[in-house]
Amino acid sequence: MKIAVIGTGYVGLVTGTCLAETGNHVTCVDINTDKIEKMQSGILPIYEPGLELLFHRNISQNRLTFTTDLASAIDQSQIIFMALPTPPNGDGAADLSFILGAAKDVAGLITDYKVIVNKSTVPVGTAEKVKAIFKQYTHIEVDVVSNPEFLREGVAVEDFMKPDRVVLGTVSERAKKIMSDLYAPYVRQGNPILFMDEKSSELTKYAANSFLATKITFMNEIANLCELVGADVDSVRKGIGSDERIGKRFLFPGIGYGGSCFPKDVQALVKASDDYAYDFKILKSVIEVNDSQKTVLIDKVIKYYGDDLSGKHFALWGLAFKPETDDIREAPSLYIIKALLSKGATVTVFDPEGSENTKAIFGDKISYAANAYEAVKGADALLIATEWSVFRNPDFDQISVLMKERVIFDGRNLFNLDKMIDLGYYYNSIGRHLIEKAEDIAKLQPVRD
Ligand code: UDX
Repeated sequence: MKIAVIGTGYVGLVTGTCLAETGNHVTCVDINTDKIEKMQSGILPIYEPGLELLFHRNISQNRLTFTTDLASAIDQSQIIFMALPTPPNGDGAADLSFILGAAKDVAGLITDYKVIVNKSTVPVGTAEKVKAIFKQYTHIEVDVVSNPEFLREGVAVEDFMKPDRVVLGTVSERAKKIMSDLYAPYVRQGNPILFMDEKSSELTKYAANSFLATKITFMNEIANLCELVGADVDSVRKGIGSDERIGKRFLFPGIGYGGSCFPKDVQALVKASDDYAYDFKILKSVIEVNDSQKTVLIDKVIKYYGDDLSGKHFALWGLAFKPETDDIREAPSLYIIKALLSKGATVTVFDPEGSENTKAIFGDKISYAANAYEAVKGADALLIATEWSVFRNPDFDQISVLMKERVIFDGRNLFNLDKMIDLGYYYNSIGRHLIEKAEDIAKLQPVRD
């Protein structure tokens, strides 16, 4: 099939590349000339595991091309994906101007039937608005399909190639046939293609992300409570997760969810509900709790050192909002760095992929280490904000020598408590027993048993 993908951001690029991988001819379009030229010369502008290989393979086999010329891309394609940004505007609602603008441009260019597929996360009713634009600006028949993405950064290629489900919002039989042919190679293992009306499909995306954000937030509150009552969140997590109705996944407490999706989508659903005079109370609490969860690690630091951190030097492992990405949008690490600096501390950070993006925000206000060990050199304490695999089993002999004090505040619960006791660390993690200095450890033993 011949496909155009408008918008070469994260979703557009993964979608375009993965669609080319099953033999389709995909033209990716963007108004950013610089970006298109880079991709034409084989430079992939984002970091996403596994994408680079597919990107080069499909370019070299002429199935994946890049252009700024919307007219030519559309002329050759039967299916037109829109993967455009929907940033929150001032009141948290999704800004649709990119999508509606692109729909108008496309409407002015088409000369035969097209399937217009919306991949962006959009409020309920957007497909209707897009349809109305086509009605207004062209007499050519189109079908507008809502096709939300459920791609997780870091595993987006795998998520696209083997989705748990494909959601397609359309009532047109013609579009259903074209879209199920397109997605057939991706659901060979038997995962479903779910057809529904456009509005249900649009709401499915918001409901999925808001539910997951709620699940994490619930666990974060359980973790906070564990600390107060002296319970262990790992045990509670396993205890509830083995109930299949709850499930084991997305129960890991931490320092709040971040990224480009959860914060934006939860807020947009609250705003959309408000527009219908529906008070979505649980989601309003999720936003509030997540904001305060981002301060948890700093609160612990202040409790330990007091409010004035001048003269203290901290190492921070992890900048990206989660592992396997360079994305720092809404990352808890940003809050942590700001708070440390505002209280007079100095900071050295290390992240396998996120340093460049962080430099754009903090510049030389902080130091950037080349590896995890360099970061901890001379540090009064180590803070951990992202659970990269490389942090999971470090050489503590080396770390103990490099650090000024053996003090760790771990926002991602990376280390085994017994190990930290053996190593003689002060170890403060999320929802687990506090491991204090050697002299206090003995009294903790019975609790752990
Ligand atoms: C999410 C959705 O999973 C995906 O389906 C959607 O299309 C886009 O939004 P993503 O933002 O890439 O994907 O990250 P995800 O892996 O879902 O994690 C989101 C946030 O939740 C991260 O900040 C992560 O650290 C946090 N999280 C996740 C937890 O704190 N605990 C968990 O148990 C799981």
